[in-house]
Amino acid sequence: MIPHNARSSVTRGAACPSILGLGHYLPVDTITNLDLASLVDTSDEWITSRTGIHSRHRAGVAEATSDLAIIASRRALADAQLDPGQIDLVILATATPDAPVPATASTVQHALRADRAGAMDLNAGCSGFLYGLHTAEAFIRSGSAEHVLLIGADTLTRVTDYKDRRTCVLFGDGAGACVIAAKGFMQVIYSSVGCDGSQADLICIPAGGSRLPSSVKTIEDRQHYLQLDGSRVFRQAVRRMVESAREALDACGLAASDIAWVIPHQANERILSAVAEKLEIPIPKVVIDVAETGNTSAASVPIALDRARASAHFEPGQLILLVAFGAGLTWACQILRYAPLAETNA
Ligand SMILES: CC(C)(COP(=O)(O)OP(=O)(O)OC[C@H]1O[C@@H](n2cnc3c(N)ncnc32)[C@H](O)[C@@H]1OP(=O)(O)O)[C@@H](O)C(=O)NCCC(=O)NCCS
Repeated sequence: MIPHNARSSVTRGAACPSILGLGHYLPVDTITNLDLASLVDTSDEWITSRTGIHSRHRAGVAEATSDLAIIASRRALADAQLDPGQIDLVILATATPDAPVPATASTVQHALRADRAGAMDLNAGCSGFLYGLHTAEAFIRSGSAEHVLLIGADTLTRVTDYKDRRTCVLFGDGAGACVIAAKGFMQVIYSSVGCDGSQADLICIPAGGSRLPSSVKTIEDRQHYLQLDGSRVFRQAVRRMVESAREALDACGLAASDIAWVIPHQANERILSAVAEKLEIPIPKVVIDVAETGNTSAASVPIALDRARASAHFEPGQLILLVAFGAGLTWACQILRYAPLAETNA
């Protein structure tokens, strides 16, 4: 028997908090590798071979993170056949809020007319959606909420330095949302989160907060853009995603071969291939959705999950492993059991 603790939880049997509805939104505008090659010294060949990314979506000038989140949320609510008034809590995972104050979740709550719901933002970088799922699951399990609307939404192109070829090729914008309830079609049977704050400087936006408030100098020094140490982040991403997936499998008494699908944070194709190889999971079981989206941070897992579901890959009873890594450094892992509602109610 696995003990429950603050970091991880394992649920066996039918009473697992579940995903009841899913939706996503990608903005219309795109940035191709050729577009980037006109801005910095790079090439389609270099970007494709190092990242697997061909293009990314970019929010329009009038579109903020909340606008993306609202569209994805409406799609998730429609999928769940739920009225916004039935939502008890809105959690928005994002590192690119509309503004520092108020929480962007408040804007989403108001736009949806989710009048009964509390609302809060959560920042765990690219692991944000999985951290949100860990949180939402606990709210449902404790009985504090009946329905939680969880959104992962980011507009990283707003904080990307298009003069820095090391980072500007990686990121895109998007939003994914889900409704979590006591019953749904994807049961959360395991959830864990982790962090190593000692390496927080590997992915950061140095200025604009209380440590280094905005000034003419911080703008001149380009310190409001996302900075990352590519090769060290690469190594940490592989290591942490592999370790947390192995922990999850051990905690549930599962072998890698029991997992039907892996839906990882879509950082880039090389990271995902390395994770799959170390876990000894065949590549066809790994959802790699990065080519046309880039790294959409907290939005990447729910977008990939929704798109994989639409392409009708999942079969009842299959286990799906979600795993993510991001700024913080943070990581998180969940194991879901696909249980369409007809089967759940049987
Ligand atoms: C960013 C990343 C693709 C760079 O690939 P890499 O193989 O590690 O490349 P390096 O950073 O070692 O740079 C190798 C060379 O390519 C150059 N280079 C970097 N970006 C380039 C680009 N867009 N186009 C052409 N050359 C580029 C570098 O300047 C360097 O040249 P130099 O040797 O003359 O100095 C890779 O490190 C990576 O995927 N890191 C993880 C990033 C990530 O996913 N972060 C988010 C995690 S949530």
